[in-house]
Amino acid sequence: MGESGHAELRRLAVEVATAAGELISAGRPDRVEVAATKSSPTDVVTAMDTASEQLLRQRLRAARPHDGLLGEEEGYEAGSNGITWVVDPIDGTVNYLYGLRSYAVSVAVVSHDPAGDPDPATWTVLAAAVVDPSAGETWSAHAGGGATLTDARGTHALHAGAGPELGHALLATGFGYDAQRRAEQAAVVARLLPQVRDLRRIGTASLDLCAVAAGRVDAYYELGLNAWDFAGGWLVAQEAGAVVTDFAGGPAGSHGLIAAGTALHPVLRETLGLG
Ligand code: IPD
Repeated sequence: MGESGHAELRRLAVEVATAAGELISAGRPDRVEVAATKSSPTDVVTAMDTASEQLLRQRLRAARPHDGLLGEEEGYEAGSNGITWVVDPIDGTVNYLYGLRSYAVSVAVVSHDPAGDPDPATWTVLAAAVVDPSAGETWSAHAGGGATLTDARGTHALHAGAGPELGHALLATGFGYDAQRRAEQAAVVARLLPQVRDLRRIGTASLDLCAVAAGRVDAYYELGLNAWDFAGGWLVAQEAGAVVTDFAGGPAGSHGLIAAGTALHPVLRETLGLG
């Protein structure tokens, strides 16, 4: 598939993520209830997570019946052509639950070996959209086609800078839902915080990655993300010129992700020392 094919996938990603963003934003009740819990009692699902994923699946199935679908709430449904949509119906579910405005819909489309499952270690992300309905911002990218932010003022190309020296860097990170993993993440923060400008915990991995693309933070790192949390923002950051890898410099994944400008990335990777 050529660049125009990727651009077409990007348009579809934006279209469906925008529709899901409108659904979750307009349909948010004053008091959001927890419908279920997943990996731990604090890893929650709301009725809107399920409704948003159903909307995404229906629209994508109608537009591209041969593609696979991998979503946070309903898992993996294989396609027949080695193209799979990787969707997070609400990234930042805990923010959504509490009425904090940082949450997003993330939609990415990847190509992979048709005989196997989509795996971040080997897949190629072809196109992506991350829609932040509260901010009225749509982030999107396609492979080889650059990354943009569309807001009320228009569409702007994104160019991540090389990054400042570590002591001047504003970092973002996130924490998983597992208590043992959090204890490890807290130990990393305790070591890192005295060495940087400051640290933000925004609560929405896809938007953390888009923030790197736009220079709103200088870097983002996290251990333990799921593929749907990072697939869309990863492409936006990468197409904006940021470097996105795991802690050892290989493909990013659940085992680790660092996104930063070209100069800051190796310094942060060495300082984290997790590779
Ligand atoms: C979570 C958010 C959070 C990150 C967690 C993710 P969810 O996704 O992206 O920022 O720190 O690791 O699980 O559960 O809100 O879709």
